[in-house]
This record gives sequence, structure tokens and C-alpha cells, in this order.
Amino acid sequence: MAEVALCLADDVPPAEMRVFDVGNVSVVVVNVGGQFVGLRNWCPHHGAPIGRGRVERTLVPSAPHDLELGRDFQVLVCPWHRWEFNMTTLQCLADPRFTLRSIPVRLYEGRLYAQLVEDGTGRSDDDPGRRGHVEQTGH
Ligand code: FES
Repeated sequence: MAEVALCLADDVPPAEMRVFDVGNVSVVVVNVGGQFVGLRNWCPHHGAPIGRGRVERTLVPSAPHDLELGRDFQVLVCPWHRWEFNMTTLQCLADPRFTLRSIPVRLYEGRLYAQLVEDGTGRSDDDPGRRGHVEQTGH
């Protein structure tokens, strides 16, 4: 596994994301409430660059005839067809069979690092429990 430096953690403010080209892999890092989530820059619907989407809120269950927004900045919206993804599970809200591909990201001394397997890809498919969330070390 190769570890690649991406940026300072402060370069990815809350509710924002950044895209990094690492060899032949496009890596997205999303700041979800101070937690950094690494993703492959790919939407499981039709392959959109998910890093061009937005971190938003979404409609949540509410009383009849009310429209209530919630899950503030916990949802990533694809730029092409606006599918929404839960940034905790990485699953599509409308159809959980569709899941974003995670890439492990590590925070060390204020910097973010992507952890890629030998072939230059993220390894999350083999380890769904990690879900691409940041590992904090050195504290
Ligand atoms: S490509 Fe992402 S929702 Fe269609």
C-alpha cells in the first residue's frame, strides 16, 4: 500500500470537498462535520465525477404537507442526476444498493494522506467497515 500526501487538513473546510489526482486515481476528500471522508471520484450511477457535486442537506420525514430539511451537510449530491449519498454509509439515499467507493484517508500532524493499494486504487472494496473515514494518528 502506498500513502500519498494530499494537503493540509485546513485546506478542506467543513461541508466542502477537494479533488486530487494521484497517479491514475482521482481522489475526493470531503469534510463532513470535521471528519474527513475519502472517495474515488466516481458516481455508481453513471460514473459522474462526484467531486463536482455538492455537500448539502436533504428532505427528512416530516408532518403531512410540511417540507423539512435535515441531515445538514451529511449528504453528497451527484452533479449529473442529483442522486444523494449518505456520507456516513456512502449509500444512495434512494437506493442503498448503490454505494460510493471509499479511499482511506489518514490525518497526521495536520495533513491528509490517501492510502492506495499497489495498483493505485483505494482498497475500501475489500474492507467495507472502513468506509473511507479518516484515521487520526500521532495524537
Ligand atoms: S451519474 Fe451520479 S446520479 Fe447519475
